[in-house]
Amino acid sequence: MRPLLDTFATSDGTSDTDAGASDPRVVRTRGTSWHRLTVTDVLRLTEEAVAVTLHVPDDLRDTFAHRPGEHVVVRHRRAGCELRRSYSVCLPPGDPDAFRLVIKRGAPNGFGAYATTILATGDTLELAPPGGTFALPALPGAHHVLIAGGSGITPLITMAAAVLREDPTCRVSLIHAVPTAAKALLADELAELKDAFVDRFTALHVLTREDRGSELVSGRVDTAKLPRLLAALDASPGPGTTFALCGPEGLVTEVGHTLLAQGADPAAVRSETFTSASGTRQNPAQGMPPLTPPADARPTRITALFGGRRTVVTGEPRENVLLDALLRAYPDVPYACREGVCGTCRAKILTGEVDLGGGQYALDTEELAAGYTLVCRARPLTAEVTLDFDA
Ligand code: FES
Repeated sequence: MRPLLDTFATSDGTSDTDAGASDPRVVRTRGTSWHRLTVTDVLRLTEEAVAVTLHVPDDLRDTFAHRPGEHVVVRHRRAGCELRRSYSVCLPPGDPDAFRLVIKRGAPNGFGAYATTILATGDTLELAPPGGTFALPALPGAHHVLIAGGSGITPLITMAAAVLREDPTCRVSLIHAVPTAAKALLADELAELKDAFVDRFTALHVLTREDRGSELVSGRVDTAKLPRLLAALDASPGPGTTFALCGPEGLVTEVGHTLLAQGADPAAVRSETFTSASGTRQNPAQGMPPLTPPADARPTRITALFGGRRTVVTGEPRENVLLDALLRAYPDVPYACREGVCGTCRAKILTGEVDLGGGQYALDTEELAAGYTLVCRARPLTAEVTLDFDA
Protein backbone atom coordinates (compact mmCIF):
# COMPACT_ATOMS: atom_id res chain seq x y z
CA MET A 1 0.00 0.00 0.00
CA ARG A 2 1.31 3.44 -0.83
CA PRO A 3 1.62 5.95 2.01
CA LEU A 4 -1.26 8.40 2.21
CA LEU A 5 -0.72 11.01 -0.39
CA ASP A 6 -2.52 14.32 -0.42
CA THR A 7 -2.86 15.26 -4.03
CA PHE A 8 -3.70 18.70 -5.28
CA ALA A 9 -5.01 19.54 -8.72
CA THR A 10 -3.24 22.36 -10.44
CA SER A 11 -5.63 23.45 -13.17
CA ASP A 12 -9.05 22.96 -14.63
CA GLY A 13 -10.30 22.81 -18.19
CA THR A 14 -12.58 25.10 -20.11
CA SER A 15 -13.88 23.31 -23.19
CA ASP A 16 -17.52 22.43 -23.69
CA THR A 17 -18.94 18.99 -23.13
CA ASP A 18 -22.34 17.43 -22.82
CA ALA A 19 -21.08 14.73 -20.50
CA GLY A 20 -23.45 14.16 -17.61
CA ALA A 21 -26.27 15.93 -19.38
CA SER A 22 -28.71 13.12 -18.66
CA ASP A 23 -30.54 13.49 -15.37
CA PRO A 24 -28.81 11.27 -12.84
CA ARG A 25 -31.68 11.72 -10.43
CA VAL A 26 -33.98 9.49 -12.44
CA VAL A 27 -34.73 6.65 -10.10
CA ARG A 28 -34.21 3.21 -11.51
CA THR A 29 -36.78 0.76 -10.34
CA ARG A 30 -35.31 -2.02 -8.33
CA GLY A 31 -36.25 -5.40 -9.63
CA THR A 32 -37.55 -8.02 -7.28
CA SER A 33 -35.32 -10.66 -8.73
CA TRP A 34 -32.35 -12.15 -6.94
CA HIS A 35 -29.36 -13.43 -8.86
CA ARG A 36 -26.47 -15.65 -7.86
CA LEU A 37 -23.16 -14.17 -8.95
CA THR A 38 -19.84 -15.95 -8.64
CA VAL A 39 -17.03 -14.38 -6.65
CA THR A 40 -13.95 -14.05 -8.84
CA ASP A 41 -11.68 -12.32 -6.34
CA VAL A 42 -11.51 -11.44 -2.66
CA LEU A 43 -8.82 -8.86 -2.02
CA ARG A 44 -7.92 -7.76 1.49
CA LEU A 45 -7.84 -3.97 1.62
CA THR A 46 -7.32 -3.38 5.33
CA GLU A 47 -7.42 -5.48 8.46
CA GLU A 48 -11.19 -5.18 8.50
CA ALA A 49 -12.23 -4.79 4.87
CA VAL A 50 -12.14 -6.77 1.65
CA ALA A 51 -12.94 -5.97 -1.97
CA VAL A 52 -15.14 -8.65 -3.50
CA THR A 53 -15.28 -8.86 -7.29
CA LEU A 54 -18.20 -10.70 -8.87
CA HIS A 55 -18.71 -12.10 -12.33
CA VAL A 56 -21.74 -10.71 -14.13
CA PRO A 57 -22.65 -13.13 -16.94
CA ASP A 58 -23.56 -11.71 -20.32
CA ASP A 59 -27.27 -12.43 -19.89
CA LEU A 60 -27.31 -10.28 -16.71
CA ARG A 61 -25.27 -7.36 -18.05
CA ASP A 62 -28.35 -5.19 -18.53
CA THR A 63 -29.80 -6.24 -15.19
CA PHE A 64 -26.65 -5.20 -13.36
CA ALA A 65 -25.93 -2.08 -15.39
CA HIS A 66 -25.59 0.77 -12.91
CA ARG A 67 -24.80 4.42 -12.51
CA PRO A 68 -21.97 5.65 -10.30
CA GLY A 69 -23.29 5.92 -6.75
CA GLU A 70 -25.84 3.12 -7.00
CA HIS A 71 -25.87 0.21 -4.61
CA VAL A 72 -26.92 -3.42 -4.53
CA VAL A 73 -28.50 -5.50 -1.79
CA VAL A 74 -26.84 -8.77 -0.85
CA ARG A 75 -29.05 -11.49 0.63
CA HIS A 76 -27.29 -13.96 2.85
CA ARG A 77 -28.89 -16.93 4.55
CA ARG A 78 -27.23 -18.72 7.42
CA ALA A 79 -28.50 -20.95 10.21
CA GLY A 80 -32.11 -20.26 9.32
CA CYS A 81 -31.65 -16.47 9.35
CA GLU A 82 -31.71 -14.11 6.44
CA LEU A 83 -29.47 -11.05 6.43
CA ARG A 84 -29.64 -8.28 3.90
CA ARG A 85 -26.95 -5.70 3.44
CA SER A 86 -26.66 -2.82 1.04
CA TYR A 87 -23.30 -2.01 -0.61
CA SER A 88 -22.31 0.62 -3.09
CA VAL A 89 -21.02 -0.70 -6.36
CA CYS A 90 -17.38 0.33 -6.15
CA LEU A 91 -15.58 0.02 -9.44
CA PRO A 92 -11.79 -0.07 -9.56
CA PRO A 93 -10.87 3.21 -11.32
CA GLY A 94 -8.71 1.33 -13.81
CA ASP A 95 -11.28 -1.34 -14.58
CA PRO A 96 -14.77 0.13 -14.90
CA ASP A 97 -16.12 -3.18 -16.23
CA ALA A 98 -15.40 -5.05 -12.99
CA PHE A 99 -18.34 -5.44 -10.61
CA ARG A 100 -16.97 -4.97 -7.12
CA LEU A 101 -18.21 -4.43 -3.57
CA VAL A 102 -16.13 -3.30 -0.61
CA ILE A 103 -17.23 -5.06 2.56
CA LYS A 104 -16.20 -4.24 6.12
CA ARG A 105 -16.21 -6.72 8.97
CA GLY A 106 -18.82 -5.10 11.23
CA ALA A 107 -20.72 -7.10 13.84
CA PRO A 108 -19.30 -10.53 14.83
CA ASN A 109 -22.18 -12.57 13.41
CA GLY A 110 -23.09 -10.37 10.50
CA PHE A 111 -22.59 -10.76 6.80
CA GLY A 112 -19.48 -8.56 6.94
CA ALA A 113 -17.78 -10.96 9.33
CA TYR A 114 -18.58 -13.83 6.97
CA ALA A 115 -17.38 -11.98 3.90
CA THR A 116 -14.11 -10.85 5.47
CA THR A 117 -13.16 -14.22 6.92
CA ILE A 118 -14.84 -17.07 5.00
CA LEU A 119 -15.97 -15.87 1.58
CA ALA A 120 -13.58 -17.04 -1.14
CA THR A 121 -13.14 -17.09 -4.89
CA GLY A 122 -15.61 -19.49 -6.46
CA ASP A 123 -18.33 -18.91 -3.87
CA THR A 124 -21.56 -17.27 -4.91
CA LEU A 125 -23.50 -14.35 -3.49
CA GLU A 126 -27.17 -13.57 -3.98
CA LEU A 127 -27.75 -10.01 -5.18
CA ALA A 128 -30.67 -7.83 -6.19
CA PRO A 129 -30.00 -5.50 -9.14
CA PRO A 130 -28.48 -2.05 -8.53
CA GLY A 131 -30.60 0.95 -7.62
CA GLY A 132 -30.51 4.22 -5.74
CA THR A 133 -30.58 7.96 -6.27
CA PHE A 134 -27.19 9.08 -4.99
CA ALA A 135 -25.44 10.82 -7.86
CA LEU A 136 -23.50 13.95 -8.70
CA PRO A 137 -25.59 16.84 -9.97
CA ALA A 138 -25.31 17.07 -13.75
CA LEU A 139 -23.21 20.20 -14.26
CA PRO A 140 -20.59 20.04 -17.00
CA GLY A 141 -17.40 21.88 -16.11
CA ALA A 142 -18.23 21.88 -12.39
CA HIS A 143 -15.90 21.56 -9.46
CA HIS A 144 -17.22 18.45 -7.68
CA VAL A 145 -16.26 18.35 -4.01
CA LEU A 146 -16.67 14.91 -2.47
CA ILE A 147 -16.49 14.39 1.28
CA ALA A 148 -16.34 10.83 2.60
CA GLY A 149 -16.20 9.35 6.05
CA GLY A 150 -14.82 5.80 6.36
CA SER A 151 -16.37 3.43 3.85
CA GLY A 152 -18.35 6.35 2.42
CA ILE A 153 -15.44 6.50 0.01
CA THR A 154 -16.83 3.53 -1.96
CA PRO A 155 -19.53 5.31 -3.98
CA LEU A 156 -17.53 8.54 -4.12
CA ILE A 157 -14.40 7.09 -5.72
CA THR A 158 -16.60 5.50 -8.36
CA MET A 159 -18.39 8.78 -8.98
CA ALA A 160 -15.07 10.65 -9.11
CA ALA A 161 -13.53 8.29 -11.66
CA ALA A 162 -16.64 8.36 -13.85
CA VAL A 163 -17.07 12.12 -13.94
CA LEU A 164 -13.35 12.69 -14.54
CA ARG A 165 -13.52 10.31 -17.52
CA GLU A 166 -16.78 11.63 -18.91
CA ASP A 167 -16.37 15.38 -18.41
CA PRO A 168 -12.92 16.61 -19.40
CA THR A 169 -13.79 20.09 -18.18
CA CYS A 170 -14.64 19.18 -14.60
CA ARG A 171 -12.48 19.20 -11.51
CA VAL A 172 -12.88 16.83 -8.56
CA SER A 173 -11.64 17.36 -5.00
CA LEU A 174 -12.07 14.67 -2.39
CA ILE A 175 -11.74 14.78 1.39
CA HIS A 176 -11.60 11.37 3.05
CA ALA A 177 -11.93 11.28 6.83
CA VAL A 178 -10.61 8.03 8.34
CA PRO A 179 -9.55 7.09 11.87
CA THR A 180 -5.98 6.11 11.00
CA ALA A 181 -3.81 5.73 7.92
CA ALA A 182 -3.99 1.95 8.25
CA LYS A 183 -7.79 2.11 7.95
CA ALA A 184 -7.84 4.32 4.87
CA LEU A 185 -9.78 2.32 2.31
CA LEU A 186 -8.72 2.49 -1.33
CA ALA A 187 -5.83 4.90 -0.71
CA ASP A 188 -3.84 3.18 -3.47
CA GLU A 189 -6.65 3.64 -5.94
CA LEU A 190 -7.05 7.30 -5.06
CA ALA A 191 -3.35 7.74 -5.77
CA GLU A 192 -3.78 5.96 -9.12
CA LEU A 193 -6.69 8.21 -9.95
CA LYS A 194 -4.49 11.18 -9.19
CA ASP A 195 -1.83 9.80 -11.53
CA ALA A 196 -4.41 9.47 -14.29
CA PHE A 197 -5.96 12.92 -13.80
CA VAL A 198 -3.06 14.84 -12.33
CA ASP A 199 -4.38 18.29 -13.22
CA ARG A 200 -8.01 17.77 -12.31
CA PHE A 201 -8.17 15.53 -9.25
CA THR A 202 -7.24 16.34 -5.68
CA ALA A 203 -7.45 13.98 -2.70
CA LEU A 204 -6.92 14.89 0.93
CA HIS A 205 -6.93 12.44 3.83
CA VAL A 206 -7.90 13.65 7.28
CA LEU A 207 -7.01 11.26 10.11
CA THR A 208 -9.48 11.59 12.94
CA ARG A 209 -7.54 9.51 15.49
CA GLU A 210 -3.96 9.95 14.41
CA ASP A 211 -1.72 12.97 14.27
CA ARG A 212 -0.60 13.72 10.74
CA GLY A 213 1.66 16.50 11.93
CA SER A 214 -0.73 19.19 10.78
CA GLU A 215 -3.80 20.28 12.69
CA LEU A 216 -5.68 20.82 9.41
CA VAL A 217 -5.52 17.14 8.46
CA SER A 218 -5.77 15.69 11.97
CA GLY A 219 -8.98 15.39 13.98
CA ARG A 220 -12.65 15.55 13.08
CA VAL A 221 -13.96 17.21 9.96
CA ASP A 222 -16.30 19.65 11.66
CA THR A 223 -17.84 23.06 11.23
CA ALA A 224 -14.63 24.78 12.30
CA LYS A 225 -12.30 22.78 10.08
CA LEU A 226 -14.38 22.41 6.93
CA PRO A 227 -13.98 25.97 5.59
CA ARG A 228 -10.21 25.69 5.90
CA LEU A 229 -10.18 22.33 4.14
CA LEU A 230 -12.28 23.79 1.35
CA ALA A 231 -9.92 26.74 1.07
CA ALA A 232 -6.98 24.32 0.80
CA LEU A 233 -8.82 22.66 -2.08
CA ASP A 234 -9.63 26.01 -3.70
CA ALA A 235 -13.31 25.18 -3.29
CA SER A 236 -16.12 27.37 -2.09
CA PRO A 237 -19.87 26.91 -2.07
CA GLY A 238 -21.32 28.80 -4.99
CA PRO A 239 -22.30 28.47 -8.64
CA GLY A 240 -20.27 25.85 -10.43
CA THR A 241 -19.46 23.83 -7.31
CA THR A 242 -21.32 20.69 -6.32
CA PHE A 243 -20.98 18.61 -3.17
CA ALA A 244 -21.50 14.90 -2.54
CA LEU A 245 -21.25 13.62 1.02
CA CYS A 246 -21.20 10.00 2.13
CA GLY A 247 -20.41 8.60 5.54
CA PRO A 248 -21.71 8.28 9.06
CA GLU A 249 -24.77 10.31 9.91
CA GLY A 250 -22.94 12.67 12.26
CA LEU A 251 -20.35 13.66 9.67
CA VAL A 252 -22.83 14.01 6.81
CA THR A 253 -25.24 16.10 8.89
CA GLU A 254 -22.59 18.46 10.24
CA VAL A 255 -20.86 18.93 6.90
CA GLY A 256 -24.18 19.42 5.12
CA HIS A 257 -25.34 22.08 7.59
CA THR A 258 -22.00 23.84 7.39
CA LEU A 259 -22.12 23.95 3.59
CA LEU A 260 -25.65 25.35 3.60
CA ALA A 261 -24.67 27.94 6.22
CA GLN A 262 -21.82 28.96 3.92
CA GLY A 263 -24.25 29.59 1.11
CA ALA A 264 -24.27 26.33 -0.81
CA ASP A 265 -27.36 25.78 -2.95
CA PRO A 266 -29.27 22.86 -1.35
CA ALA A 267 -29.76 21.39 -4.83
CA ALA A 268 -25.98 21.24 -5.24
CA VAL A 269 -25.45 19.20 -2.07
CA ARG A 270 -26.18 15.47 -2.35
CA SER A 271 -25.63 13.06 0.47
CA GLU A 272 -25.94 9.47 1.48
CA THR A 273 -25.74 8.24 5.04
CA PHE A 274 -24.61 4.71 5.60
CA THR A 275 -24.87 4.52 9.36
CA SER A 276 -27.93 5.52 11.31
CA ALA A 277 -27.92 7.15 14.72
CA SER A 278 -28.13 3.75 16.34
CA GLY A 279 -24.75 2.89 14.94
CA THR A 280 -26.10 -0.15 13.11
CA ARG A 281 -26.45 0.00 9.42
CA GLN A 282 -28.47 -2.87 8.16
CA ASN A 283 -29.58 -5.05 10.98
CA PRO A 284 -32.89 -6.72 10.19
CA ALA A 285 -33.35 -7.56 13.83
CA GLN A 286 -33.53 -3.90 14.70
CA GLY A 287 -36.39 -1.82 13.48
CA MET A 288 -38.43 0.97 14.93
CA PRO A 289 -39.52 0.85 18.53
CA PRO A 290 -42.47 -1.52 18.89
CA LEU A 291 -45.79 0.14 18.45
CA THR A 292 -48.46 -0.08 21.09
CA PRO A 293 -51.60 0.35 19.01
CA PRO A 294 -54.50 2.34 20.44
CA ALA A 295 -57.37 0.15 21.64
CA ASP A 296 -59.61 1.31 18.78
CA ALA A 297 -56.99 0.79 16.06
CA ARG A 298 -58.35 -0.85 12.92
CA PRO A 299 -56.66 -3.08 10.32
CA THR A 300 -55.35 -1.35 7.22
CA ARG A 301 -55.96 -2.53 3.68
CA ILE A 302 -52.60 -2.20 1.93
CA THR A 303 -52.42 -2.46 -1.84
CA ALA A 304 -48.94 -2.75 -3.34
CA LEU A 305 -48.11 -2.42 -7.03
CA PHE A 306 -44.94 -4.24 -7.66
CA GLY A 307 -43.34 -5.40 -10.88
CA GLY A 308 -46.66 -4.81 -12.61
CA ARG A 309 -48.51 -7.02 -10.12
CA ARG A 310 -51.03 -5.95 -7.51
CA THR A 311 -50.86 -7.43 -4.03
CA VAL A 312 -53.42 -6.70 -1.33
CA VAL A 313 -52.74 -7.43 2.31
CA THR A 314 -54.43 -6.52 5.55
CA GLY A 315 -52.12 -4.83 8.01
CA GLU A 316 -52.91 -5.61 11.62
CA PRO A 317 -52.71 -2.84 14.24
CA ARG A 318 -50.00 -4.73 16.10
CA GLU A 319 -47.78 -4.70 13.04
CA ASN A 320 -45.20 -2.03 13.43
CA VAL A 321 -44.67 -0.77 9.91
CA LEU A 322 -46.08 -1.40 6.42
CA LEU A 323 -43.13 -3.62 5.56
CA ASP A 324 -44.10 -6.15 8.25
CA ALA A 325 -47.55 -6.62 6.74
CA LEU A 326 -46.28 -6.70 3.17
CA LEU A 327 -43.67 -9.35 3.93
CA ARG A 328 -46.39 -11.73 5.14
CA ALA A 329 -48.01 -11.70 1.74
CA TYR A 330 -45.05 -11.03 -0.47
CA PRO A 331 -41.62 -12.12 0.80
CA ASP A 332 -39.89 -10.47 -2.16
CA VAL A 333 -40.74 -6.93 -1.08
CA PRO A 334 -37.43 -5.05 -1.45
CA TYR A 335 -35.76 -4.03 1.76
CA ALA A 336 -32.31 -4.15 3.30
CA CYS A 337 -31.53 -2.05 6.35
CA ARG A 338 -34.98 -1.61 7.95
CA GLU A 339 -33.62 1.60 9.39
CA GLY A 340 -34.57 4.18 6.81
CA VAL A 341 -31.02 4.41 5.55
CA CYS A 342 -30.58 2.52 2.29
CA GLY A 343 -33.75 3.51 0.41
CA THR A 344 -34.26 -0.03 -0.90
CA CYS A 345 -37.87 -0.13 0.32
CA ARG A 346 -38.83 3.17 -1.33
CA ALA A 347 -42.39 3.33 -2.72
CA LYS A 348 -44.78 6.04 -3.84
CA ILE A 349 -48.01 6.54 -1.94
CA LEU A 350 -50.87 6.63 -4.42
CA THR A 351 -53.71 6.76 -1.90
CA GLY A 352 -53.91 7.08 1.86
CA GLU A 353 -51.50 8.56 4.37
CA VAL A 354 -48.63 7.24 6.42
CA ASP A 355 -46.52 8.51 9.26
CA LEU A 356 -42.86 8.23 8.35
CA GLY A 357 -41.78 9.42 11.76
CA GLY A 358 -38.25 10.64 12.30
CA GLY A 359 -35.06 8.87 11.48
CA GLN A 360 -35.33 8.46 7.74
CA TYR A 361 -32.15 9.22 5.85
CA ALA A 362 -32.81 8.00 2.32
CA LEU A 363 -35.41 10.37 0.88
CA ASP A 364 -34.71 13.98 0.01
CA THR A 365 -37.25 16.79 0.26
CA GLU A 366 -38.22 16.46 -3.41
CA GLU A 367 -39.02 12.79 -3.02
CA LEU A 368 -41.00 13.39 0.17
CA ALA A 369 -42.94 16.17 -1.54
CA ALA A 370 -43.63 13.84 -4.47
CA GLY A 371 -45.23 11.32 -2.12
CA TYR A 372 -42.49 8.75 -1.69
CA THR A 373 -42.09 6.85 1.53
CA LEU A 374 -39.99 4.09 3.03
CA VAL A 375 -42.16 1.14 3.95
CA CYS A 376 -39.67 0.02 6.61
CA ARG A 377 -40.46 3.22 8.55
CA ALA A 378 -44.02 4.00 7.46
CA ARG A 379 -46.99 3.43 9.72
CA PRO A 380 -50.47 3.74 8.22
CA LEU A 381 -52.68 6.68 9.22
CA THR A 382 -55.62 5.74 7.02
CA ALA A 383 -57.76 2.64 6.60
CA GLU A 384 -56.45 2.13 3.08
CA VAL A 385 -53.00 2.73 1.64
CA THR A 386 -51.90 2.12 -1.94
CA LEU A 387 -48.19 1.92 -2.68
CA ASP A 388 -46.42 1.84 -6.02
CA PHE A 389 -42.97 0.26 -5.82
CA ASP A 390 -42.49 0.71 -9.57
CA ALA A 391 -42.90 4.51 -9.55
S1 FES B 1 -35.05 -1.05 4.03
FE1 FES B 1 -33.46 0.43 4.01
S2 FES B 1 -34.60 2.29 3.97
FE2 FES B 1 -36.12 0.79 4.22
